[in-house]
Amino acid sequence: ARTYVVTGAASGIGAATAALLRTRGHRVIGIDIRNADIIADLSTADGRDTLAGAVDQASGGRIDAVIAVAGVAAPAPVTITVNYFGAVATLERLRPLLVHSDAPRAAIVSSFSTLQTTDDDVVEACLQGDEAAAVSAAETAVARDGGQTLYASSKRAISRWVRRAAISPEWAEAGVPLNAVGPGIVISPMTQPMLDNPEQRDALLQVVPMPLHGPSEPAAPAELLTWLTSPANTHVTGQVIFVDGGADASLRTGDI
Ligand code: NAI
Repeated sequence: ARTYVVTGAASGIGAATAALLRTRGHRVIGIDIRNADIIADLSTADGRDTLAGAVDQASGGRIDAVIAVAGVAAPAPVTITVNYFGAVATLERLRPLLVHSDAPRAAIVSSFSTLQTTDDDVVEACLQGDEAAAVSAAETAVARDGGQTLYASSKRAISRWVRRAAISPEWAEAGVPLNAVGPGIVISPMTQPMLDNPEQRDALLQVVPMPLHGPSEPAAPAELLTWLTSPANTHVTGQVIFVDGGADASLRTGDI
């Protein structure tokens, strides 16, 4: 059995991922702001310290995989601090615990929304690792347009971070595949209110066409996350893999 750390484990995709892994006999250390083995607010420095310390203690200093799922979709700076800085902190702070594994793996949940309009200032500040500048750029975006591009910006930034980090010595030479999964619309507490409203559901599916099966259950991205973080994955790294019922292929039909 392997030991997995899953953030966002209390709900939606994180809960589905933790459940799948437990069903297969693995140990899961779940992190969330509520209803989890370790309670930590990943938007804060204190919460990230709690994550690092408590996982070290709970695991005896050895884990096999990290899956960063926690995220929010508010048009507010917290979306940047959780989805980007919280996710990067999760992977970087737990990386030292992966070195003792025979098959260390890491994955993150990005989104189809990387294909949508983003705010360059926010994305750039994220990739510089400058959280204060990113929050300030996010506040500017909120004042300008209500922060409508912040969610996509957080996900664009995290996908670009994954591509860079995956080939760096810290991850590649250490033998750790690192990938992102980009779900389309997933039925979860994050999207349920929109999906329950027929007009909003139609509008959402115009923006995110999902010709194959429509909106998915959380198990669809969870299945891929478990494969990417299994010993079977030896060479897939630095990828952003869409699990989106064909949304990416619909929006970028001419691209590969
Ligand atoms: P959800 O709302 O069901 O689950 C998100 C979890 O993250 C919750 O349990 C929440 O408590 C936790 N969380 C939020 N802020 C946190 C913080 N500061 N510290 C620690 N934990 C925190 O949402 P869902 O749909 O399962 O989303 C999971 C991930 O998938 C997110 O990163 C989201 O952006 C992404 N995603 C979701 C899509 C969807 O259609 N539902 C589509 C594409 C990506």
